[in-house]
Amino acid sequence: MLSQQTIDVIKSTVPVLEQHGVTITKTFYSNMLNAHPELLNYFNRANQQKGRQQTALANTVLAAAKYIDNLEPIVPVVMQIAHKHRGLGILPEHYPIVGENLLRAIKEVLGDAATDEIIDAWANAYGVIAEIFISVEEDLYKAAEDNGGWRLFKPFKVAQKVQENEEVTSFYLVPEDGSTLPAFQPGQYITVRVKVPGDEYTSNRHYTLSQASNPNEYRISVKREDACDPKGVVSNYLHNNVNEGDFIDVSAPAGLFTLSETNNPTLFISGGIGVTPLNTMLQAMEPGRDVTFVHTARNKNVIAFQEQIENKVKELNGTYRAYYSDSEGYITKEVLAPYIKETTEVYVCGPAPFMETVISLLNELNVPKENIHFEFFGPAMTIKAF
Ligand code: HEM
Repeated sequence: MLSQQTIDVIKSTVPVLEQHGVTITKTFYSNMLNAHPELLNYFNRANQQKGRQQTALANTVLAAAKYIDNLEPIVPVVMQIAHKHRGLGILPEHYPIVGENLLRAIKEVLGDAATDEIIDAWANAYGVIAEIFISVEEDLYKAAEDNGGWRLFKPFKVAQKVQENEEVTSFYLVPEDGSTLPAFQPGQYITVRVKVPGDEYTSNRHYTLSQASNPNEYRISVKREDACDPKGVVSNYLHNNVNEGDFIDVSAPAGLFTLSETNNPTLFISGGIGVTPLNTMLQAMEPGRDVTFVHTARNKNVIAFQEQIENKVKELNGTYRAYYSDSEGYITKEVLAPYIKETTEVYVCGPAPFMETVISLLNELNVPKENIHFEFFGPAMTIKAF
């Protein structure tokens, strides 16, 4: 338990952190990764380059500071991060390294303003937060094992590699040890860990499981990323270098972006490769659920799983709308409005600008926040609407 005095000190540092949060975390990362280069086996260096992870951590530290006397409201955020940490194989022994370097960075950036009292308060607060993460993550590791899964990574063979369109290729993965795979919830992801030639460290990426749960194989559908900077290191490696018969390391399924159990009308809105979790959710749906799928892509050549989605929507007597931004422009309120009823639950997945636009349109259309479920492929907190 933290003393009232510690809580007061923590709360009084929020304005300072708000001012320097990102600088502190940038300093923290560069110090930590210099001192512990082995952690480069865990961190996504492309995110580092784009400054994404810095923002995510800074936001979390601020959230923790604001809620330090009652951490209840940030539990959902902790859970989501813990799922990602578990998928990456983050362990209790990593937490003191992060803590030590975070405090050092606070000292370095704030200089004389970082009094002993402030540093001690943050050391205590970090200890409390780290304990919560460690304990939630241990529960997730145990749950993964209890469900017939495994704790960290194990090798899977690429049994089949199937090109879905110009940009997307599916990989069918079977465990090398021939074990039965644990069931997962549609919308969950696995972490793929590979060693890209020429790179000293491993690279990890989360990929949504893109077909319904099945005890023999998992499938992921990967978009090659040539246009962005830096190019998709892992996705392009999978496309170009990983072939049928090759092995890659895979984590047990993780993630909280899953279909709710209500029977409310469901509206899926996908942008580009964000279609993967939504398609898996759709394919798992039983008849009787009112469903609409707004399937957006740049154009017909790069839309993924169209036939499968259209067929399933038809089977459920639902509504399917393909939306091509090259010819129709950016999605608008008018496109979405006809599909929204009072109790509609909306599932959104796509790139960050798409998500921000769609979520603000849904806000304008008065969809209650609790009925908007979303996942962004990257650190969730970089989304402004979060
Ligand atoms: C991801 C917070 C401890 C390694 C994240 C994210 C947040 C976060 C907010 C982004 C989640 C998302 O993608 O939405 C924290 C907090 C920690 C903590 C508050 C301490 C209390 C650690 C530790 C490690 C670690 C001890 C291991 C050294 C990672 C990695 C990612 C991540 C590798 C994936 C993102 C990337 O590589 O860019 N964490 N974390 N974290 N965290 Fe932590």
